[in-house]
Amino acid sequence: MTRKINTPILVTGGTGTIGRLTVPLLVAAGRTVRILSRGGRPENIAPDPRVEYVQADLLADGELDPALVGGAETVLHLAGGPKGDDAATARLVRAARAAGTVKHLILVSVVGADAMPIGYFRAKAGAERAVMESGIGWTVLRAAQVNELLLKMVGAIRRMPLVPAPGGLRFQPVDAAEVASRLAELALGEPAGRVSDLAGPGVYTLPQLAAAQRVAAGAKPRRTLPIRLPGKVGRAYRAGANLTSHDALIAGRDWKEFLAA
Ligand SMILES: NC(=O)c1ccc[n+]([C@@H]2O[C@H](COP(=O)([O-])OP(=O)(O)OC[C@H]3O[C@@H](n4cnc5c(N)ncnc54)[C@H](OP(=O)(O)O)[C@@H]3O)[C@@H](O)[C@H]2O)c1
Repeated sequence: MTRKINTPILVTGGTGTIGRLTVPLLVAAGRTVRILSRGGRPENIAPDPRVEYVQADLLADGELDPALVGGAETVLHLAGGPKGDDAATARLVRAARAAGTVKHLILVSVVGADAMPIGYFRAKAGAERAVMESGIGWTVLRAAQVNELLLKMVGAIRRMPLVPAPGGLRFQPVDAAEVASRLAELALGEPAGRVSDLAGPGVYTLPQLAAAQRVAAGAKPRRTLPIRLPGKVGRAYRAGANLTSHDALIAGRDWKEFLAA
């Protein structure tokens, strides 16, 4: 497929945890980038003539203006939140189709998107369908939770008297930089369909994540409170539906190496 490399790559969510690590890789590869987010350029990201910012809310009512695509042939869709990623992605796909320039749509999804009976995962599965049925060349990468997000989660339970230990809930934390590097590689390549899931090398329960963080900070692990997760959600977590299967790409630092750094 012939691709014009002088057109920008549209990166939705290019100011987020994963996005802000991905954009410099695209720029280093010689590309200009157009970032779409609600807030525009955050003050802690320096201006760069190779990076342009456009503001739009993918969850707003009505259609997205196709002009926001800015002539991009590649769209890397990283914008996302706890709710509505299916509707937001469908809206982006309609704008990409209407723009007529887009040849490659890349979506970051989550490991277990189609197997976890939880709204966030269901919406990601819907987002995947919107991309796969777009009629545009596509690539979907499912990633595990990033270390940076889990550090925030562990921080949020720090003040609880006991560490909650939901039975069956496990994570395979991966560095956001690894996800960014893989996404940049995929965005600079040709449409590849559903590629191998990406996760980090270790599997941890929430108390294990919290205990390792305490030990890294020179403190003793705290006592845990076992919680049984009921119903379909509990069964899915106990079955490991949010974990990668054998053909996943395992990359980067382990949680403990991340904490040590
Ligand atoms: N973090 C993880 O562990 C993980 C794992 C697997 C998959 N993912 C997926 O990877 C993507 C990026 O994750 P992240 O951790 O980098 O997220 P993040 O730090 O929360 O960043 C989200 C980005 O999307 C933008 N955004 C959010 N809602 C938007 C909307 N309605 N319209 C336009 N822009 C919007 C945000 O900017 P504004 O707030 O300025 O709009 C920001 O740039 C998400 O789709 C997430 O579901 C994340």
